[in-house]
Amino acid sequence: MRILWKPFGFSRRLLQVECCHPNELISLSVLTRRTLVPRLKKAPSIFWLGQRQGFSTMPEEEASTRDTELFSPPSDVRGMTKLDRAAFKKTVSIPVLKVRKEVVNRLMRALKRVALQRPGIKRVLEDPEDGDNRLIMLDPYKMLTVDSFEKAEFAVLEELDVNPQLSQYNLELTYENFKSEEVLRAVLPEGQDVTSGFSRVGHIAHLNLRDHQLPFKHLIGQVMIDKNPGITSAVNKTSNIDNTYRNFQMEVLSGEENMLTKVRENNYTYEFDFSKVYWNPRLSTEHGRITELLKPGDVLFDVFAGVGPFAIPAAGKTCTVFANDLNPESHKWLLHNCKLNKVDQKVKVFNMDGKDFLLGPVREELMLRLGLPTKEKPSIHIVMNLPAKAIEFLSVFKSLLNGQPCSSERLPTVHCYYFSKDANPAKDVCQRAGAVLGISLEASSSVHLVRNVAPNKEMLCLTFQIPAATLYENPALTLENYEEPSLKRQRTDDSVSEPPVTSDS
Ligand SMILES: C[S@@+](CC[C@H](N)C(=O)[O-])C[C@H]1O[C@@H](n2cnc3c(N)ncnc32)[C@H](O)[C@@H]1O
Repeated sequence: MRILWKPFGFSRRLLQVECCHPNELISLSVLTRRTLVPRLKKAPSIFWLGQRQGFSTMPEEEASTRDTELFSPPSDVRGMTKLDRAAFKKTVSIPVLKVRKEVVNRLMRALKRVALQRPGIKRVLEDPEDGDNRLIMLDPYKMLTVDSFEKAEFAVLEELDVNPQLSQYNLELTYENFKSEEVLRAVLPEGQDVTSGFSRVGHIAHLNLRDHQLPFKHLIGQVMIDKNPGITSAVNKTSNIDNTYRNFQMEVLSGEENMLTKVRENNYTYEFDFSKVYWNPRLSTEHGRITELLKPGDVLFDVFAGVGPFAIPAAGKTCTVFANDLNPESHKWLLHNCKLNKVDQKVKVFNMDGKDFLLGPVREELMLRLGLPTKEKPSIHIVMNLPAKAIEFLSVFKSLLNGQPCSSERLPTVHCYYFSKDANPAKDVCQRAGAVLGISLEASSSVHLVRNVAPNKEMLCLTFQIPAATLYENPALTLENYEEPSLKRQRTDDSVSEPPVTSDS
C-alpha cells in the first residue's frame, strides 16, 4: 500500500468565503466551519491506494458533480440472458470520513442522513493505516463536498473533535451489492419496463412477466431468488387464470420445482400445492374484513372456499362453518388446514359444485336453523368468492326454502364477489345481481371495493340480505295462516283414524 500526500481542496474554499465577505452576515454553517478550519490546516490529508480498495482526499472539481450511473452495474451486462454474477464487478469512488473508533456510534447516529446505504456494504471500515481509526462510508450523491454536511451534522463533528475532511475510498461493488431493480435495469433492453415486483406465496415468488421480459425470464427468476431472502423458487404465470379451479398455469423459471408451500395469513397457517389450488396473497385484507364481520356463534357457508382463508378464521372465532370447493385438491388441503389450525371440529367440509352445495347442505341447514325459535340469534353469512361466476349462482336462492319465512333480521347475508370493467362498478354489480334475482338491490345492499385487478378491472364484494320474498317459496305465509307441517300431518292422520261421529251414537 502506498501513502501519498495531497493538499486540502475544500479548506481553501472555506477560507475564501470568509475572506471575500468579511462584513456580511456569515451563515451558521460557515461559522461552524470557521472553528474547524484551523484544525484542518494542521491535519495532513491522506491518500490511500489499495490494490482493490483504497481512499484518497476528494478533489473539489471531481466531487462537485457525480456520475449518475455510479451504482449501476457495468454496461457490458446489457442483454445477458444467463446470469453471470462475476460480470457485475465494478470499482467506485466513495467519500469517507476518517474518525477515532470510540466516536463511531455517536457519529453514525448523527450522520444517518448521509451514510452510505447499499446492500451488503459495511458502512464503517477499519482504517488500514491506523487500527484506532475507522472510515465511515458516505453517500456520494449526498456528500459532494464537505459543504454538504448540514449545520447539525457539523455541530456533532465539532463536538466529537472530528476532522470533516473527506477522503475518497475505492470500493469494489459486486453482484451482491446491487439491488434487483438495478441488476434488471442494466440487463434488460434500455428504456423498457423492468418491474421486479412479484406475489410471494411461501417460498415461491410468483411473477407475471411481460412479453419483452420473456427472453430474460430465467435470469429474472434467479435474481428474485438471490435478492429476496426466503424465496427459493420463482414461477411465471403462463396463462390467464380462467380454468375452473382458478389455479395458475405456471412455469418454474429458477430454483426448486417443489410447489408445496406454507403461508401465514391473519394469524392462521395454510399449507397447499400452489400449482394445484387457488391462493392469492392480495386477498388477505378481504379475508380479514369478512372475518371481522362475523360474531362468535354465527354460521358461515363458504361456497367457493379454496384452502380455507375465510372458513378457518371464522371457525377460529367459534362460528359454525360449512365450507365447500369443487377442486379435489382444494378440498384435500382445506381438510388438512382445518386440522393444522385445530378448527376441524367447527368446519364441515364438502367437495361439490357450488350449486349442489347451495341446493343440498345449505338449504337443509337453512331450513333447520331458520325454522328454530332461538333466543340467541346467530347471523347467517354466505360467502361466494368466485368473482367471474358467483353472480350466476345467485339464482339458486330464488324460492330455495319453503315453510314460514323467518323474521327479517335472521335472513341470510350474502357476500358475493364480482369483477367489473364498468365505469360505475358499484352500479354494475347491483344491476347484475339484481337481474339474476329479479329484484332491485340498489337501496338494500352495500358494495365494497376489494382491489384493482388490472387497469379498468375492479374486484368488488356485494353484500345484501336475501329478501324473504326471494328466498321463500311462499313468502305470504305468516304466523296466522301458517301451520307447522308436522301438526298438519298429525291432524290429517287423526281425522282418518277417528271414527266419524254419527247421529246414531
Ligand atoms: C377465487 S377462488 C377463492 C378461494 C378462496 N375462497 C379464497 O378466497 O382464496 C375460487 C374457488 O372456487 C372453486 N370453484 C370453482 N368453480 C367452482 C364450482 N362450480 N363449485 C365450487 N367451487 C368452485 C375453485 O376451485 C377455487 O378454489
